[in-house]
Parts: sequence; structure tokens; C-alpha cells
Amino acid sequence: MFYPNDFHDIDLIPEPPTEEPARQYYYIALAGRKLEALGRDRNHPYRYFLETFGCQMNEKQSEVVAGILDEIGCVRTDSEEKADLALYNTCTVRENANLKVYGRLGRLQNMKKHQPDKRIVLFGCMMQEKEEAERIRTDYPFVNLVFGTHNNYKFAELFCRMMEEGRQVIDLQEKPDRIVEELPTERNYSFKAGVNIMFGCNNFCSYCIVPYVRGRERSREPEAILKEIRSLVEDGVTEVMLLGQNVNSYGKTLEHPVSFARLLSLVEEIEGLHRIRFMTSHPKDLSDELIDVMAKSHKICHHLHLPMQSGSSRLLKDMNRHYSKEDYLALVEKIRAAIPDISLTTDIMVGYPGETQEDFADTLDVVRQADFDTAFTFIYSRRSGTPAAGRPDQVPEELVKERFDSLLALVQEKGRAASSRFTHTVQEVLVETESKEEGILTGRTQYNLLVHFPGSKELLGKYVPVCLEECRGFYYLGRMAADCEGH
Ligand code: SAH
Ligand code: SF4
Ligand code: F3S
Repeated sequence: MFYPNDFHDIDLIPEPPTEEPARQYYYIALAGRKLEALGRDRNHPYRYFLETFGCQMNEKQSEVVAGILDEIGCVRTDSEEKADLALYNTCTVRENANLKVYGRLGRLQNMKKHQPDKRIVLFGCMMQEKEEAERIRTDYPFVNLVFGTHNNYKFAELFCRMMEEGRQVIDLQEKPDRIVEELPTERNYSFKAGVNIMFGCNNFCSYCIVPYVRGRERSREPEAILKEIRSLVEDGVTEVMLLGQNVNSYGKTLEHPVSFARLLSLVEEIEGLHRIRFMTSHPKDLSDELIDVMAKSHKICHHLHLPMQSGSSRLLKDMNRHYSKEDYLALVEKIRAAIPDISLTTDIMVGYPGETQEDFADTLDVVRQADFDTAFTFIYSRRSGTPAAGRPDQVPEELVKERFDSLLALVQEKGRAASSRFTHTVQEVLVETESKEEGILTGRTQYNLLVHFPGSKELLGKYVPVCLEECRGFYYLGRMAADCEGH
């Protein structure tokens, strides 16, 4: 990475710098020295517990927070109870995500009775909502620090404030002001990594809160992205996942616009990189150029996550998705014609306001025709402040539940059939984890399908040809090709 090797060398005598990321480097050094002093009176390191809710955008921001905490000298623990510092990166895309956080807070309030020095931090999307932050201020005064998505880069500075001030620190920024590059980042895997290519969203789908909590779309400069990927590859990464809420509109707002397809071609040229993935593709912006680049590429995985949301053209219009049922199906056909082995996955919502039995039948119809490998299904959740939340024709819960169950049954049946097309083929698998059962490895094909197979853990991070012997729905049982020759 590009940040200092040793934050201890940073001179703390002058005032903190005003420019970023130098300012945060200063606070990392300051926080490190504070913890060192604190550690002298304790017989264990300062331990932190970090839980992340929501999507990969949140995962990425958590990696920065963890990277900073590691530099400061904190040690990560899996025990919420034992932790001196418990951090929660929140999501608010559906009501359930919020409820989980309030559940944690109930538990923490009890723990804090016995551990008054335990510090609690809430950050991320949910905190970007004024009413939620206000509720934390008034009803949960034992929370020590609250910040949002736009000032995540300032975590080291906020950590210092939290350690100094005896009261609750709330620091929220309504709008993003900059993209701060080159902060320390922890990585969950040594061989694969997510890379943000853009932040925010401009689409304002009528049900969705993301544009309100993540702000307007901002793309990173291609040079910054390529530099990060090159450095990851030098560190041993061979698979990258390019991340954005709508990667197909990447680069449109740059001073010198660059298309997503062009960015992919540039990433493809990086030597040592083996696999490229990306998420999420909005169907309205998926270009022929992208399909062409994917079809010709040797590195881009043949997997596309293409959220459809609904199969009803009437609802799609109301949702502000800018495509119809026919457009979606035509797009699927075009992609399959160019990349016949493509694995398609999707997101589907049921119970959107005004959804009739006919609208729902259209959704089922698309699922029957599109042959998705997997579909993530959601019950519509009313998000305050979004246009759909104000609609008087919310669908009764009972009916939604019924539709959800029948959608899920169809999705599973179709998914099983679609995924099983690889049975008895040999696929290249990137070995990701060793399962609890010793000697059993779990890896992923380019199609994003999981495979469990016997093997030794020296294979972690390696690409192995595996014979897919038995499909169990969304995963396979297999055997290394070397072990099953002649079968
Ligand atoms: N940017 C991506 C989606 C990000 S949110 C895209 O446009 O495709 C991930 C998924 O959550 C969405 O695809 C949608 O299916 C679901 N979702 C978003 N808002 C929701 C809501 N209010 N209720 C239920 N599901 C929702
Ligand atoms: Fe939400 Fe739509 Fe943006 Fe996706 S594209 S994040 S669903 S507003
Ligand atoms: Fe949730 Fe925020 Fe992602 S609301 S889904 S964590 S962008």
C-alpha cells in the first residue's frame, strides 16, 4: 500500500495537517500513542469487535475502519462481550437491518452496566438518516461515537475525539465532499479483494433509500483504481470485484469520461490478475460495448448480477427503473447469445405498493423464462422519505407473505435446474476457505457457484481444476480433477 510504513515516525508536535490523507495519518499516530499509554496500565491489548451489516460497500468501509484500528494497535476479537470497543457498521436498506442494530443496542446496554469503560461506535448508512441519529442521541446516550458514510475516512480523528471527550460524539456530514484515497485497509482474504470504482447512486428508484444515505454518484479516477489493483496484485491478490451501486454508469461524471467497458479493458491488462468480477449492473445502462468486452475477455468471470426487481412493466415504470419486462427479457437473450455459458443472478422484490396478482404473475413469468442461477428475494420494506413510502396502496402483509413464498419456491426450483448444468464438468475453482470439517475445501467457480471438495489447506488461494460431481442446489460436491480421472 502507499501509506507510511510506520506511523510511529510521524511528528506530532506541529498542528495536525489540514490536507487528507496526511491529517488522518497524524491522528492514527496520535491514537496509537494514546493507546500505548493506556496499555501500560492494562495486561491485555485494546480489543475491538466489528460487525458489518448490509452490502459490499459497507464491507469495504469496515475494512478501512479495521485497517486504521490495526495501525493504532488495537486487536480484533470475535467476542462482543470481551471487546473494549464494539463497532457496528449499519445498513438501512430494509427495516430488518435497522431492527438488528437496535437488538444489538439492547444487549450492549446490559453489558455496559458491568463494563462501564466499554466504548460503542455506530456508523454507516443508518446513521446518515437524521431521525435514526437523533434517536441514538436521545434514547441511547451510552453510545460513544456516531458517524456516517461520508466521513468514514475521518475515523482516526473521530476515534481520538471519542477517547478525549467524556460525552457522546456525533459527527455527521450531510453530503460527501471528497474521495480520500490511500487509507490503511484490512483485507479478509489475501488472494481476493473488493475495489470501489464509484460511490453513491443517482437513480432514485422509488423504493430505495441508498441515494439518500450514500449521496450522488462519484466515480474514482481510472488511474487511482488501476494503481490500487496493481498494488493488490503485488500483494498476492488474483481476483478483484469492482464495486458500485450501478457500475454500468461508471465514469460518466469524470472530468474526462471513461466508460465501464473501457475501465474493464484497462483492468484486464494488469499482469498477474486472473479473475475480474463486478457488481451491481443496472439493466438500463448495460451497454453492447460491455457485453462485447465480457465475451472477448480472458479474465472477466461469466457471471452477471442483474437485478430485475419486478417483472411487471407497470410497476417497473413506477419504480423508476427505466426498462420494461420485454426490455429485460430481450437483454437477457442478447447476453446469452453473446456469452452462452453466462450465469445470471438477480434481485426481486415482492409487495411493492399497488402490486396486483397480475403484476406478480409477470414476475413469476420472467423467473420462468430467464433461467437465473440464483435470485435474492426481498419483501418490499417501506423506507421513510422515499416516494413509494407515501403511497396509499401498500399491499397487505398476508398477501405479500403468500406471494413471497410462492416466488421463493419457483426461484429455488429454477435455480437448482440452472445450476446443475455444470454436473460432471471440470471447472477451475479458486479455493477460498477450509471448512469446519478438516480436509474439506470450499472454492468458487467463475460462475460464482460454491464447490466443496476434499483437499489440503496448502491449496488455499490457488486455482484448482475440480470435477463437479453432485449439484446440491446452490452448491456442488466435487473432487479435484487429478483425483477423479477415469471416472
Ligand atoms: N444498486 C443495486 C441494488 C442495491 S440494494 C441495483 O440497483 O440493482 C440491493 C437490493 O435490495 C435491491 O436490488 C432491491 O432488490 C433490494 N431493496 C432495495 N430497497 C428495498 C426496499 N425498500 N425493500 C425491499 N428491498 C429493497
Ligand atoms: Fe437503489 Fe436503484 Fe440506486 Fe440500486 S440503482 S442503489 S436500487 S436507487
Ligand atoms: Fe445497506 Fe447502505 Fe449497502 S443501506 S445495502 S449498506 S449502501
